[in-house]
Amino acid sequence: MKKIRAAITGVGAFLPEYRLTNEEISRMVDTTDEWIMQRIGIKERRILTGKDQATSDMGAEAVKQLLQKTHTSPAEIDLLICATITPDMPFPATANIIAHKADIHNAWSFDLNAACSGFIFALVTASQFVESGQYKKVVVVGADKMSAITNYKDRTTCPLFGDAGTAVLLEPTDEEIGIIDHIHHVDGLGRHHLHMKAGGSLRPASRETVLKGEHYVYQEGQTVFKFAVSKMADVAAEMMEKHGLTSENLAWLVPHQANMRIIDATARRMGIDPKQVMINIEKYGNTTAATIPLCLYDYEEQLRKGDNIILAAFGAGFTWGSVYLKWAYDGGAVSC
Ligand code: UT7
Repeated sequence: MKKIRAAITGVGAFLPEYRLTNEEISRMVDTTDEWIMQRIGIKERRILTGKDQATSDMGAEAVKQLLQKTHTSPAEIDLLICATITPDMPFPATANIIAHKADIHNAWSFDLNAACSGFIFALVTASQFVESGQYKKVVVVGADKMSAITNYKDRTTCPLFGDAGTAVLLEPTDEEIGIIDHIHHVDGLGRHHLHMKAGGSLRPASRETVLKGEHYVYQEGQTVFKFAVSKMADVAAEMMEKHGLTSENLAWLVPHQANMRIIDATARRMGIDPKQVMINIEKYGNTTAATIPLCLYDYEEQLRKGDNIILAAFGAGFTWGSVYLKWAYDGGAVSC
């Protein structure tokens, strides 16, 4: 019997309209467009500004667009997994809220927290249900409203992040396409260098935690940078070697978009041409769980069935990993 693989058969995305430019950030904190472009590579990021708008709103819009694009009825969805570190609230899961808002009522759903590796961790989790033959249509959402946890008085973090919601559909195939392999890692010691200090069971929210700004992203930039460069590059290169991939037969690297210098270092370590790398950090910044599917969304027209693609990410936890997949359809066409 042929092996069932899980293939991405569509991509949806929602981007808030408001564009927060470097120029505007340089009026909030002591920074410049030149510094941000040179050290990070971001020009602007989208910010969700509407009243009572949350991560689930962006996720639900992305899911609705995905279902429309792939001619899928909400009733057909078996499972929805949402990767996020900015849930609407600690509980219930944002995945449940997204399912409700997208009219998905026959599925079960849950959140998965792996920070910037969230999408690739959720993708591999979802693929197991498809490969087992149990489910036919699974939605993976990567959505984060990073502006909700960004301190716009801290110049070391506020230029980095943006908001976005994304969603992909996973379906079974017996062709030689879809998700082929993954290599995922965590190192809990890394938690000290990148986290949110308060708001959890360790330090519940209090007047003191709010006054200290402990509900914002805390990051030791240089340490995270060093780990990100070596771990993301190593795991992507390891995947290439494992599957005999070279610059000739690899179509695309889809790296997490945290810093242009990390993306460049990863491509160099893999020995691939910058033209083989999906990059949109300049337009959206680091949207955490949404960066990789947002790249797939932006480059969808250029993708061809059978393209060898490596996804690679590094994030808080620390979490990092890579996924090797063969793209399932041509351009913007729906595969089935
Ligand atoms: O996605 C999850 C994983 N996260 C990442 O991968 C992020 C990894 N880290 C980074 O991308 C970089 O470390 C940052 C972009 C956060 C910072 O860049 P850096 O080159 O590591 O800068 P740095 O922290 O070493 O700071 C260099 C200097 C410092 O000044 P002094 O001490 O040398 O006088 C900072 O105060 O740059 C200063 N600085 C800034 N200057 C102008 C820091 N932020 C800014 C700023 N504008 N926005």
